[in-house]
Amino acid sequence: MIIGIPKETSPGERRVALVPEGVASLRKKGVEVLVEAGAGEGSGLPDAEYTKKEASVVASRAEIFARADVIMQVRTPGANPETGEADLKMLRSGQILIGLAEPLIALETAKAVAAAGVTSFALELMPRITRAQSMDVLSSMANIAGYKGVLMAANELPRIFPMMMTAAGTLKPAKVLVIGVGVAGLQAIATARRLGAVVQGYDVRPVVKEQVESLGAKFVDLGLETAQAQDAGGYAKEQSQDFYRRQQEALGKVVAANDVVITTALVPGKRAPVLVSAEMVKLMAPGSIVVDLAAERGGNCELTQPGETAVVGGVRIMGPLNLLSTVPNHASQLYSHNITTFFTHLIRSGEISYDLEDEITQQTLVTREGQVVHGRVKELMAPKASA
Ligand code: NAI
Repeated sequence: MIIGIPKETSPGERRVALVPEGVASLRKKGVEVLVEAGAGEGSGLPDAEYTKKEASVVASRAEIFARADVIMQVRTPGANPETGEADLKMLRSGQILIGLAEPLIALETAKAVAAAGVTSFALELMPRITRAQSMDVLSSMANIAGYKGVLMAANELPRIFPMMMTAAGTLKPAKVLVIGVGVAGLQAIATARRLGAVVQGYDVRPVVKEQVESLGAKFVDLGLETAQAQDAGGYAKEQSQDFYRRQQEALGKVVAANDVVITTALVPGKRAPVLVSAEMVKLMAPGSIVVDLAAERGGNCELTQPGETAVVGGVRIMGPLNLLSTVPNHASQLYSHNITTFFTHLIRSGEISYDLEDEITQQTLVTREGQVVHGRVKELMAPKASA
């Protein structure tokens, strides 16, 4: 079996799907690995490192698509609206595609991948179960985003994070509020704590209270959280507009009392909920920072401009996009481990197995034999019955 690793082409994407260590583990399984020349460059991984691990470095991207049985990417065409079209044209029937695909949003691309006869797996759909943890790309990337988001805030804040007692006086620690305490939020709390800030965490799912407290932060209880906030997969459910309005009202004072607000709240397949309104930002002290880690999904702050830093009333609202490409080496290392573990899990007697009784395979398989086969993706494609 031949695995192909094309260089990522999405603008600003510096990660690579497989690092040289990953090549070594695949070679042990008897797999041949083709890597496009320069694929690891953005992550500080020269071609020579791949060759050392017995990958073949190939200059032509078209050759990778023509020869590989399996293509591994960070951003498959669904997650690469800018330049993924060119790859779509090179994919061929019978080929297997593994990577991020935005399957709940890029529905037309999923259809096109199916029509090309490609079997595709979307890593965003990995079930959040213990057995799948080592393959869970969302978690490994969220960890890095949570960490880096806090560093961005610390860099911009005109104050320091830790309390400092000096001969010239005592400096008070920064106050940090993390809204949305999933994987990214927990890492943001841990990082802000390590830097010495006084940290609070808020989430619509009441089960996170204990996790917030275990990191030495305070859980903000707005009295709005409900047991029904979480779906069977552990994700937050979309709430009513009335709920979001009441949430904003209650959060206003908490936001105003903090120097830094890090937001990470997402709802799968939906635009990120707006939790910090323009009015709430007005109440923040000049010099305060909002880092909106949900910017790629439209943002949790009404004033977020994805990819930009907006300054309103002296408050800086940062909406970073593809934060992971600012830490590409470690992000690639984790991604590579996730994707090789997933690939190994699919292999039975040297072939890819489509064991649909297996939760991991079933929930990540999006297209097969010319069809979109994933239940949720199909549901989203179905014409809506008029009300
Ligand atoms: P996510 O990235 O989908 O969302 C981030 C956070 O925003 C979540 O905690 C969510 O509850 C919160 N949020 C959404 N709407 C909100 C609102 N209106 N107000 C406040 N907060 C809001 O979440 P992530 O990190 O992907 O985690 C999803 C679930 O998966 C969690 O239950 C997590 O514990 C679970 N998980 C399980 C794993 C395992 O057992 N293998 C591994 C990783 C995550």
